[in-house]
Amino acid sequence: MTTSNHTAVLQAQDRAHVFHPSTHMRQHADGETPNRIIRGGQGIYIEDTEGKRTLDAFAGLYCVNVGYGRTEIADAIHEQAKQLAYYHTYVGHSNEPVIKLSERIIAKAPAGMSRVYYGMSGSDANETQIKLVWYYNNVLGRPEKKKIISRWRGYHGSGIMTGSLTGLELFHNAFDLPRAPILHTLAPHYYWGAEAGETEQDFSKRCADELEKLIVAEGPETVAAFIGEPVLGTGGIVPPPEGYWQEVQKVLKKYDVLLIADEVVTAFGRTGAYFGSQKYDISPDLITIAKGVTSAYLPLSGVIVGEKVWQGLEQGSDKLGAIGHGWTYSAHPVCAAAANANLDIVDGENLTGNAADVGGYFQQRLHETFDDHPMVGQVRGVGLLAALEFVADRQAKRRFDPNLKVGPQVSAACLSRGMIARAMPQGDILGFAPPLVVTRADIDRIVDIAKQAVDAVAAENRA
Ligand SMILES: Cc1ncc(COP(=O)(O)O)c(C=O)c1O
Repeated sequence: MTTSNHTAVLQAQDRAHVFHPSTHMRQHADGETPNRIIRGGQGIYIEDTEGKRTLDAFAGLYCVNVGYGRTEIADAIHEQAKQLAYYHTYVGHSNEPVIKLSERIIAKAPAGMSRVYYGMSGSDANETQIKLVWYYNNVLGRPEKKKIISRWRGYHGSGIMTGSLTGLELFHNAFDLPRAPILHTLAPHYYWGAEAGETEQDFSKRCADELEKLIVAEGPETVAAFIGEPVLGTGGIVPPPEGYWQEVQKVLKKYDVLLIADEVVTAFGRTGAYFGSQKYDISPDLITIAKGVTSAYLPLSGVIVGEKVWQGLEQGSDKLGAIGHGWTYSAHPVCAAAANANLDIVDGENLTGNAADVGGYFQQRLHETFDDHPMVGQVRGVGLLAALEFVADRQAKRRFDPNLKVGPQVSAACLSRGMIARAMPQGDILGFAPPLVVTRADIDRIVDIAKQAVDAVAAENRA
């Protein structure tokens, strides 16, 4: 299909004026890379200005959990914007949608959660997490307890401190992010990290031992918190090895280190449990949410504060007065109304149950199709999160030459067959995170297209 005039004009304007995230700036400006303009979406499909429909097996950026085109959410946004488009929530002001939303989040969150602080993105919520942890330790009279441990391959955002937490080199290049109070420990990636003969349980124990060594070497009196995604996301979609969270939590308890569960991807059903923490028996002190809370119909994030930290914050107010932290748009009523309409769908259609059921079918189909594929080193996932890791040699576990860009090749081969699956940044990895409304028939289609794409790239690389 040739590009229509309308699309060509939009593309030229886009290349001239829009600064895109995660994009090669010069190539985009010069028209060397694709520039697709999306104008609509329905269910699990998006549509571009050329009328081409594509199955979105990554739900945008694993966020459009209820699928595209849900008029219930659009209507709720419209109604709330007419009723009250904005008022701030400083000095005790509130609004009905945010009160309702907070009550339902706390009711469904892991035990011991107390209050929700709202932001607009996963990154700003994690920035809030760091500030709260530091403030908390200052209030408790432990001003030196400030270091935060993250994991290699962890993704926690692109802000100043959250970029530092992110354990992916790409996000550090040439930004001079502050590294000092941030430490990184082993990625819980059994496939690449385990030694010969090591069981998953042993590997988990070794991850926890490494964490303990780091805490002891730094001095436990200097280590404030540990942050982790229940399932590593952008670092490769890696479910934790057996026993990992149990071993890690023992260490954190021993040294009085707070646990922040970054559930930006995993909260609201994606793993087949409402929260990823519930899936893996994690008892966090603080939880980060974003994406699935509104299915990205409007931006909204949150920090769910557990009772222990909340007590510290209350004491802080008694000593210091009102907390000096706030965003203009915190607890925005229209975003909260979108979240309530979205969670009505998640609950009403039992999308968490669908993620467990259809997700189980998805994992099974991926294993049947790819476990013996010569180019696939590992098939992994949980619920409606999954990944294929491609290797040049399965026996020797040898990676492809990164210059071949095998992951992006497979992603492009999927796209040319009408499906989006994401080439993840840390290796040759194809990620899947379809909307939670997918059916078994949709899964068959996703797996069939993935198989055709992987076979085509394997044949090309053999040639
Ligand atoms: C686990 C996790 N935390 C934080 C973030 C940052 O969220 P945002 O892009 O909304 O700032 C992301 C984004 O993908 C994420 O996956």
